[in-house]
Amino acid sequence: MIDKKYSIAIDGPSGAGKSTLAKAVAADLGIVYVDTGAIYRTIGYYVWKHGIDPKDAEAVTAVLPYIQVDMRYSDDGLQHMMLCGEDVTTQIRLPQISMYASAVSAIPTVRAFLLDMQRDMARRHSVIMDGRDIGTVVLPHADVKIFLTASAEIRAARRMKELEQRGTPCPFEEVLRDIQQRDWADSHRETAPLRQADDAVLVDNGTTNFDESKQLLLRVIKEALAVEK
Ligand code: DC
Repeated sequence: MIDKKYSIAIDGPSGAGKSTLAKAVAADLGIVYVDTGAIYRTIGYYVWKHGIDPKDAEAVTAVLPYIQVDMRYSDDGLQHMMLCGEDVTTQIRLPQISMYASAVSAIPTVRAFLLDMQRDMARRHSVIMDGRDIGTVVLPHADVKIFLTASAEIRAARRMKELEQRGTPCPFEEVLRDIQQRDWADSHRETAPLRQADDAVLVDNGTTNFDESKQLLLRVIKEALAVEK
């Protein structure tokens, strides 16, 4: 569609469908999908495994030099997270890791630690990167910026279904509470809080199904890239 390297930033709250949609859009466009939440989850997993309080900035900062995080892509395009040489792609999805990831992501040294890794991916490849601060901090010059959201209730219902399918069911009230807590924590932290970049296109996918949402995103992206070109 376009021959020069380009980057697409998708930000939004937990459970808005960013990962699933971004992955599908990446496959369609033939570019690399980077799930930055998985990187924070990997740090959260390390901290959880070592019994460290994820809110203790000093303790978390002290272990950063021992954390080696790497991303690998399998042939099917799946992003694997490597933690000190071990593939932790499955473990980082455990429900308890969500709050750990959210807590460590509020620590400025953790964000600084992961910044280069994310920017480097965009330097080397055309990417669609999803997260909370991609359009505002990580890739402020992204060619396309999208802020994807839906109501907390709709996101909770979707997340509940996903957890069921993964064989780790969780009651609706609990999923909703977790989403609301993370929304609050992610958007009220001091460093790189979740917010829509001024030049991002707002997409609410609360009433559109997966295919419709995907088509909508592709349209927004293609229009923005055509203007750029
Ligand atoms: O997208 P996710 O739910 O896997 O992300 C896990 C946590 O990581 C989320 O609560 C906030 C944090 N995060 C972040 O602070 N910045 C990003 N770019 C991506 C995720």
